[in-house]
Amino acid sequence: MRLSLTDKCNLRCTYCMPAEGLEWLSKEAVMSAAEITRIVRIGVDHLGVRELRLTGGEPLVRADLLDIVSALREAHPDLPISMTTNGVGLDKKAVALKEAGLTRINVSLDSLHEETFTKLTRRPFLDKVLAGIDAAWAAGLGPVKINAVLMRGINDAESPDLLAWAVERGYELRFIEQMPLDADHGWTRRNMITAAEIRELLSRDFVLSPDPRERDGAPAERFEVRRRDNAGAETTGPVVGTVGIIASVTEPFCADCRRTRITAEGKIMSCLFSREEFDLLGLLREGADDEELAQRWQDAMWIKPKAHGMDHTGLGAPDFVQPDRSMSAIGG
Ligand code: GTP
Ligand code: 5AD
Ligand code: SF4
Repeated sequence: MRLSLTDKCNLRCTYCMPAEGLEWLSKEAVMSAAEITRIVRIGVDHLGVRELRLTGGEPLVRADLLDIVSALREAHPDLPISMTTNGVGLDKKAVALKEAGLTRINVSLDSLHEETFTKLTRRPFLDKVLAGIDAAWAAGLGPVKINAVLMRGINDAESPDLLAWAVERGYELRFIEQMPLDADHGWTRRNMITAAEIRELLSRDFVLSPDPRERDGAPAERFEVRRRDNAGAETTGPVVGTVGIIASVTEPFCADCRRTRITAEGKIMSCLFSREEFDLLGLLREGADDEELAQRWQDAMWIKPKAHGMDHTGLGAPDFVQPDRSMSAIGG
């Protein structure tokens, strides 16, 4: 279960948000801490949710984040609770989050170069993000996974350096194919960096082989990473880390998807790309009991689309329609 805590964010990544002018949800429209706790409990007790991920927008901008994590942990002592964050401000909150009961963290980082980072996120916060990643690791919020979206001509050439950086520090880097979920509607199939290209880019410095661990419905296909030797030859040297590739567009994994999503205003989205949403929070506020909420949630999941059709866009079968929401308003 992926639950968004807020639609707000302190970055403006070009593949997600517009430079300005996105309207925020009102405070009343967003789920309160008590409503979040209740919805998660219904998911766990009635619908078999086995893992929770907190998303945004940017979850760290929510003032009551620590209270939410503590309450969830108290109600569910054994539930894995992870969070996906952009890392800004994480250096100050990592220890408290660990103590509140957070299990692990994923951080978005597209570039290690100040200029490129600022161009992509429209904010000069690279140092803050790097400090946040270090703090999460030090606080025991590992395994730390890093998400990078590659943009042609901007950070694609940097991909082997990003992997070298992650491998040295023991972080699991995942490259994500850019999806048509940006507020500016600037995505084109031709301009996105495909999984095949990512593997080719990485082969400059590394040799990738399939990770023997079961994928188990995860978005990322994992590879074991070995370094090329100095002459650029294939190597049988040691495995130095793993890398994931999330190929939502060119190698979709919809058939194995087991995720349910709740947006910050309590709407069920059965898929990142669904254009139908069910207002669970509205029903809760009308006074529905747990059984009724669970039933309606289950019903909403039955209309989960079989596939998103994104891989067909521009290839003669244009059955993909971009959702109205941007990634920041869905929750990643
Ligand atoms: P773990 O591997 O368990 O740590 O989590 P995760 O990869 O599911 O979480 P994260 O929030 O880091 O997600 C990384 C990216 O995976 C997201 O930004 C999406 O690009 C992609 N992703 C996650 N869930 C879905 C999904 O249901 N469909 C598609 N197409 N992509 C998804
Ligand atoms: N395509 C792919 N990934 C995206 N993210 C945000 N917008 C997009 C997009 N259009 C990623 C962020 C973050 C994760 C939650 O979603 O980089 O790591
Ligand atoms: Fe914020 Fe994440 Fe969107 Fe970047 S991708 S603008 S960090 S919500």
